[in-house]
Amino acid sequence: MKKSYPAPSKAPGFQQVQRMFIFNRLHNFRKCIMLCVILLIAMVIYTFPYKSLIKIREPGLAIQYRPCKIHDLDPWDKVMAYYLKDPPPAYCEKAGNSLMFVDDNGMLRYNDSAIKLYSLTSLTCVYHVITRKTDDFSISVGAAVEFIPPVFIEARVFKVVCHDSSSVKVYDFVHANVVWIESVERQKEIKRESDNEYSIIYFGLDSASRSHAIRKLPKSIKYLTETLGAYDFKGFMKVALNSFPNMIPLLTGTQDSGYHKENILKMHLDGIPFIWKEPEMTSYASLYAEDRPDISTFNYLHSGFRDSPVDYYFRVFALGMHTIEPTIMKPLGKSDWWCYGNKHHYLVQIDYLKQFLTKYSGRKRFAFFWNNQIGHETFTSLGNGDQPLYEFLQWMKSQGHLNRSIVIIGSDHGFRLGGASTTYTGRLENNMPMMMVYLPDSLKKKFPWIPENMKQNTDKLISPFDIYATMLDIIKGNYEETLCKEVSRELTHRSLFGKIPKSRSCADAGIGEQYCSCYDAQTASVSNPLVHKIGAKIVSHINAMLSNHKSVCRTLELKNITEVKVIYAAEGDWDNEPIHRKPGFFKRLLGDTETDESGRYTLMLYTSPNEGLIEGMVDYEKKATTGEKYTKTIGEKNKMTVIGNPVRSNRYGNQSHCIDDPTLRQYCLCFDIPL
Ligand SMILES: *[C@@H]1O[C@H](CO)[C@@H](O)[C@H](O)[C@H]1NC(C)=O
Ligand SMILES: *[C@@H]1O[C@H](CO)[C@@H](O)[C@H](O)[C@H]1NC(C)=O
Ligand SMILES: *[C@@H]1O[C@H](CO)[C@@H](O)[C@H](O)[C@H]1NC(C)=O
Ligand SMILES: *[C@@H]1O[C@H](CO)[C@@H](O)[C@H](O)[C@H]1NC(C)=O
Repeated sequence: MKKSYPAPSKAPGFQQVQRMFIFNRLHNFRKCIMLCVILLIAMVIYTFPYKSLIKIREPGLAIQYRPCKIHDLDPWDKVMAYYLKDPPPAYCEKAGNSLMFVDDNGMLRYNDSAIKLYSLTSLTCVYHVITRKTDDFSISVGAAVEFIPPVFIEARVFKVVCHDSSSVKVYDFVHANVVWIESVERQKEIKRESDNEYSIIYFGLDSASRSHAIRKLPKSIKYLTETLGAYDFKGFMKVALNSFPNMIPLLTGTQDSGYHKENILKMHLDGIPFIWKEPEMTSYASLYAEDRPDISTFNYLHSGFRDSPVDYYFRVFALGMHTIEPTIMKPLGKSDWWCYGNKHHYLVQIDYLKQFLTKYSGRKRFAFFWNNQIGHETFTSLGNGDQPLYEFLQWMKSQGHLNRSIVIIGSDHGFRLGGASTTYTGRLENNMPMMMVYLPDSLKKKFPWIPENMKQNTDKLISPFDIYATMLDIIKGNYEETLCKEVSRELTHRSLFGKIPKSRSCADAGIGEQYCSCYDAQTASVSNPLVHKIGAKIVSHINAMLSNHKSVCRTLELKNITEVKVIYAAEGDWDNEPIHRKPGFFKRLLGDTETDESGRYTLMLYTSPNEGLIEGMVDYEKKATTGEKYTKTIGEKNKMTVIGNPVRSNRYGNQSHCIDDPTLRQYCLCFDIPL
């Protein structure tokens, strides 16, 4: 009998189920093999540094290409408390009362109340015009000219000498007349401000980190943020070590490394493309005022300018005050860095700026004011700058100078040498200077996207290059909204008026790798043998840098290591593809159990015999996982690359007086310094 199979139905019979089961088992087995093969291939791909065979990587990690994480530093961090003593007050008043002053119209007048105070009955006075010679370093004092006040002296700087009725010298003092300008033609070129044409007033204070400004300039900061609605840029980062290489980007948009080092030390800086040389600048009255002629940015270890760079160049006045010893009733001796006679140099400088702003009220002004002394020498003296700045800001508002001026209050870096700057927090602060920008209401109303973008940008990574780009936009009258450029691996100038991308990296902002404080670092042990090797590498690197000066500088040794921070390498930190990972499951399976110590190491160490406290940065690439076979193609094993120049963070006085190089001066201990 022919067995007939039951008609196929939706529900399978027993045999069918069994067959399907066997078939499925078979199928599953094949699937498993396939899976295993795929996994095996994946494993090979995973452990095989195929990319490295194609391309040789550039040396070093590429951490600076990671998007920056802005650290909101706590100004009240406990570590800093120890260093925050109140500054000693700056007394200058004890020198008495100046017998004369120059009013806002440029008239030199007697101070009647002072004359009365000193019971002076008759005075005979002369003035001497002080002029610039052929460069930034010398002045000449003209012949005596008799006069009777009040008088308008046609000179920018002059000294006044008076004798009393018994021919005793009672007054010898340098004054400035900001009202006077040589050329009537020049005066005519200076245009009026308008809703499309704004002034720029840059008020700079050396060595003021954002955190330190919050601590030491509380009145000014409160007034700026609360009353004036200024923008406080939390992600402003310095790009290089000290003032000069941060100021060059700010004022020229170029990197100082673009100029040949030896040349830039010796040559005059007139040829560099400073913003005041832009063609539009002819419609502005320009001012550049810096105190401390000995350490001012373009003169310290540099040759300054051959020709006066701006309409109002404070330097002649500063040189006059520092070379001519003042007399008020009695000789007062050489001026120190704080007081000129009865007045703080900071106040003299602010007065000069005020007179300039008054003279050109309502007209386009570019003022670059920079004070070194207030914050540079001692950590807390910045506090003495608060009240005068606060009063200056109030004065500007009351006089209408804020109507059409963009005001920038900024610094170049934080406190750099000694004390607080040797702590980890202090070093982070050093990389994050203050940067505040005030915009006038008329500008905000007319270009509503600007305040919006500015607000967003206060949390973005920015650098002096961007301040330059912003100032350039102002003088060129570019206020239209532009498209946001993509993040690149090279410096991109980004005006604060546009949108700055959140994913911006240090490379895109032009920030030197060494100063890129964007990432979370972890603390490592100073006793780790690897750390010792890295320390030795830093010291030998310094000795190699000093090798051309062996005859004058001592060889240094590693004394001890006091602190280690490390940013561990992550995928994408390599210039090519991720070929180097922490050991994963398969690598451990293959017997590789070593942890990967690759990363960027920052060490604080002492060198001897100069007792230098040095911060050095080294990229360490272990290559634990690739094996000898591949290391030939991708570089050495256990590779160490020193990043940037090690930075000295304690003072070195004149240890290195025998050399000029600004970098090497940090390390050199001249043989003639007794041990
Ligand atoms: C004039 O002298 C008085 C002291 O008699 C002083 O308080 C005042 O500040 C002086 N004024 C100027 C403009 O120097
Ligand atoms: C500034 O603006 C105020 C208010 O609009 C006005 O009263 C004042 O005259 C202006 N000052 C100058 C110098 O333009
Ligand atoms: C390292 O050396 C410096 C300079 O001599 C010394 O002040 C410091 O106490 C030393 N630190 C350690 C941890 O040995
Ligand atoms: C600078 O060094 C010289 C040479 O050793 C020394 O005579 C002088 O006293 C030092 N000056 C200061 C201010 O330390």
